[in-house]
Amino acid sequence: MIKLASLALCHAVLSFSNFQALAAVTNTSKAGLAWPNGNYVDIKQFLSTEKVSWYYTWGPWPIEADIEFVPMLWGSDQVSQFNSSIDGTVSKQHVTAVLGMNEPQQSTQSNLTPSQGAEIWTQYIQPLHGKGLRLGTPAPTSAPDGKTWIQEFMSLCANCTIDFVALHWYDVNATAFQEYIEDFYNTFHLPIWVTEWACQNFNNVDDQCSYEDIQQFLAQTQSFMDNASYVERYAWFGAMENLQGVNPDDALMTSSGKINELGVQYIGGNATVILSGISSVRLDPTCNLRTLQFTVIFTVVTSLLLYFA
Ligand SMILES: *[C@@H]1O[C@H](CO)[C@@H](O)[C@H](O)[C@H]1NC(C)=O
Ligand SMILES: *[C@@H]1O[C@H](CO)[C@@H](O)[C@H](O)[C@H]1NC(C)=O
Ligand SMILES: *[C@@H]1O[C@H](CO)[C@@H](O)[C@H](O)[C@H]1NC(C)=O
Ligand SMILES: *[C@@H]1O[C@H](CO)[C@@H](O)[C@H](O)[C@H]1NC(C)=O
Ligand SMILES: *[C@@H]1O[C@H](CO)[C@@H](O)[C@H](O)[C@H]1NC(C)=O
Ligand SMILES: *[C@@H]1O[C@H](CO)[C@@H](O)[C@H](O)[C@H]1NC(C)=O
Repeated sequence: MIKLASLALCHAVLSFSNFQALAAVTNTSKAGLAWPNGNYVDIKQFLSTEKVSWYYTWGPWPIEADIEFVPMLWGSDQVSQFNSSIDGTVSKQHVTAVLGMNEPQQSTQSNLTPSQGAEIWTQYIQPLHGKGLRLGTPAPTSAPDGKTWIQEFMSLCANCTIDFVALHWYDVNATAFQEYIEDFYNTFHLPIWVTEWACQNFNNVDDQCSYEDIQQFLAQTQSFMDNASYVERYAWFGAMENLQGVNPDDALMTSSGKINELGVQYIGGNATVILSGISSVRLDPTCNLRTLQFTVIFTVVTSLLLYFA
């Protein structure tokens, strides 16, 4: 009696909220957040589906978050901050991997020759292999010199323990993206982390993706990476209020830091989340799983109390 009654109530709550059953979210661990927002923006908005499992901050500084932090050594200006904090971060946080320098072949970014890159990497990143961390290459842009930079870096860092290749990609063609990633994998035979990518035309700034193009591009590139066994992790650009020159329609949040429709798409909110023991539901962008669970439990308990009163 009681069991049937509470089950009926759960169904009532679920159908009242107009949820629909769909297929489950899978391959939940690859998606990450490139996060420049500190604790100022609530990262929990992106964690309700559990599709996002890690984040990085372009530096050695973690924020308050319940997902895995990946420290990064951005460039030569960051070495002393990185070196003085990394041991503490590794012992206090759940750290499994570390990222190398940011866009080394760009003069406005970390601006390093492959030789300078190999030197910094050997001095500050290589020792972390001994702490059990997996080590990533510097992440070049998708300009033509990106791949050659990594090739030269690899030959100069021949004794380095490189576990994965990190890279960035900005352009507008999802098929070209896929071919680029496949080419990197076929060249280096290492797992790939795409630590920045977006639908953004840097070759012709007057010809940017429409919002629909972006939704389509994100869907196609993300499902390609979820399916490709050699793509280990990825982080879209970007989860930030201001995209700093990249097409603002690529933002995963509003200008006031609230997850938006593209953000919901990124975290798999259009697919289904398994609500343990109750049912399979569609996660509405405005519905937080915990709120839903609370509502269900609250309704059941209240009904039972009323039943026995
Ligand atoms: C890095 O930090 C360690 C202490 O954590 C220190 O012993 C070492 O000298 C530092 N290395 C450099 C090159 O700053
Ligand atoms: C790699 O290590 C070997 C053996 O220690 C050494 O002979 C070689 O010069 C090193 N190569 C580089 C690029 O450092
Ligand atoms: C997208 O890239 C693919 C692969 O490089 C190419 O065959 C195709 O023509 C491109 N599409 C457009 C619209 O440029
Ligand atoms: C998934 O990956 C497999 C193996 O690489 C490939 O054959 C298949 O076409 C991919 N499917 C999709 C939908 O990309
Ligand atoms: C999940 O990942 C595995 C291994 O990378 C792959 O074989 C599978 O096709 C992926 N499934 C989906 C739904 O993307
Ligand atoms: C996700 O849902 C939104 C709103 O219903 C829709 O506009 C968008 O196209 C969907 N995206 C995907 C990838 O299904």
